[in-house]
Amino acid sequence: MRTYYCGQLRSTQVGETVTLYGWVDRRRDHGGVIFLDLRDRSGIAQIVANPDQPTAYAQADALRHEYVVRVTGQVRQRPAESLNPNLPTGEVEVYADTIDLLNPVCKQLPFQVSAAEAESVREELRLKYRYLDLRRSRMSRNLTLRHQVVQAIRRYLEDQEGFIEVETPILTRSTPEGARDYLVPSRVNPGEWFALPQSPQLFKQLLMVSGLDRYYQIARCFRDEDLRADRQPEFTQLDMEMSFLSQEEILQLNEGLICHIFKVIKGIDLPRPFPRLTYAEAMARFGTDRPDTRFGLELVDVSDLFKDSGFKVFSSAIASSGCVKVLPIPNGNDQVSNVRIKPGGDLFQEATIAGAKGLAYIRVRAQGEIDTIGAIKDNLSPEQKQALLERTQAEAGHLLLFGAGPTDIVNKTLDRLRQCLGQELGLIDPNQINLLWITDFPMFEWNPDEKRLEALHHPFTAPHPDDLADLKTARAQAYDLVLNGLEIGGGSLRIYQRSIQEQVFETIGLSLEEAYSKFGFLLEAFEYGTPPHGGIAYGLDRLVMLLAGEDSIRDVIAFPKTQQARCLLTDAPAPVERKQLQELQVASTYKPKVTAPATTSAPPPAV
Ligand code: AMO
Repeated sequence: MRTYYCGQLRSTQVGETVTLYGWVDRRRDHGGVIFLDLRDRSGIAQIVANPDQPTAYAQADALRHEYVVRVTGQVRQRPAESLNPNLPTGEVEVYADTIDLLNPVCKQLPFQVSAAEAESVREELRLKYRYLDLRRSRMSRNLTLRHQVVQAIRRYLEDQEGFIEVETPILTRSTPEGARDYLVPSRVNPGEWFALPQSPQLFKQLLMVSGLDRYYQIARCFRDEDLRADRQPEFTQLDMEMSFLSQEEILQLNEGLICHIFKVIKGIDLPRPFPRLTYAEAMARFGTDRPDTRFGLELVDVSDLFKDSGFKVFSSAIASSGCVKVLPIPNGNDQVSNVRIKPGGDLFQEATIAGAKGLAYIRVRAQGEIDTIGAIKDNLSPEQKQALLERTQAEAGHLLLFGAGPTDIVNKTLDRLRQCLGQELGLIDPNQINLLWITDFPMFEWNPDEKRLEALHHPFTAPHPDDLADLKTARAQAYDLVLNGLEIGGGSLRIYQRSIQEQVFETIGLSLEEAYSKFGFLLEAFEYGTPPHGGIAYGLDRLVMLLAGEDSIRDVIAFPKTQQARCLLTDAPAPVERKQLQELQVASTYKPKVTAPATTSAPPPAV
């Protein structure tokens, strides 16, 4: 019988006989005495095998990395010179009486599991042998943390706020979140398809119609979209929906939840209320709806100053409904060289990735003198120069980077540069936690490819009651929660009145017939007495990633997919038997790429 996990041993257990199970993390032969680091999910304990226990010693001698063993022995205080302050168990060791080999490693390990060696292992190898990767303390800590976060969520929502967890279907119809669906053919209904849910959106609204009042779910969601460090095709949401609450009440309840999580997990009391910015303000000041507010470098709109300037790049941008904005960088003259902001430089490159055609700049010298590429300077009157310096609060040493053109590109460019420079100039305190609500999103955004408005969140989001006269430009009763520049959650109040719902469909160019064929079940349900309701969903993986201090959500998901949406462990997706496709009455149109045969000038061999 196991008496303790390895990581539980302390000096209070000195003298006890204990039995531990685990893996051999390391084995060190110190000329006569063998030391084993025995590892289980809780940590590491040092085992000592001494020749005066010949069987245990002989067994220890035969052990290798990752062998699975059972050790029984007495806990002893370590001698002063071998105390290890870096290990929670570092004051004690187990003097082995017996060591039983339960299972050896039969193949060469693809990488060393023990923490120090494994850090530099390629991610592909880690994902292929994920079960070994998860033995590492960093990964098992991350999975344990994830479990603790979910536990804290359940305790808060169930015990303090009266939420009920309900599971919603995985085989369902397409949901309106806007990414591509993962489709599943139906064998019993040939020619018809399920879609895996992009979120439980429609079901949670139906649960409100059913009177569940407060629903939550740790819900798996599926979106076939381009992947990044914070996006997976299969991810987990903490999904919530509530009836009869105002937006303000929903935000308050959610602040309580987030504070509870941070208190339980980090022991931190977050200040409340969380700061708020409207979408319009966030875009104006930071160029993004998910600003990292741990540092300044706020954007300044100077369009009015350059409206009539002779500098054509600026004046024509403004004339065609664009704008000119500045990213002012204090002491930027010393820190950012011309090479980096001129064509070919890395910051210039960042700007062009965001869609900018160029990157104008001004360097402010002593006594308000400015240096710049000729054209701006030559076209600035002394009054304009003075106004520019005042507006941007620029002093000697400031570098002013300009974005000019269509407003969305200007914002994207300066947001990108702001983030690069914030990092590079060391303006971000990694220990700071900045939570921020973004509110008053626009209901719709223009889709230039389809030449129509589309819902910014989804078409069930309620418009602001003050903006009903013109829905096209209306604000939505929608909110996102941003943590250090990452969107960790988003939600809205929902439409529950048929007339407004129909107007929204009309605005996004969805005919009533189409709307009913897609969401008829929901619209019909709304006819039977629907409470006012609203909700939110958090990206659980993102939240855990931030709490764990990781840079990728792959490091907090047990079995994640790669950027190419593959599982390297199981090698999924994979071809299936022709018979399976026949049963489903599905035929593939995929044609494998034919690689051209290697050309050779040698004549074919004689037969
Ligand atoms: P939304 O689409 O904003 O809202 O998703 C909610 C949160 O889920 C996380 N998220 C992702 N995490 C990892 N990988 C992805 N591919 C991914 N996509 C989204 C983000 C995001 O904030 N039904 C609505 C919520 C509602 O209105 O109640 C919804 O799904 O952190």
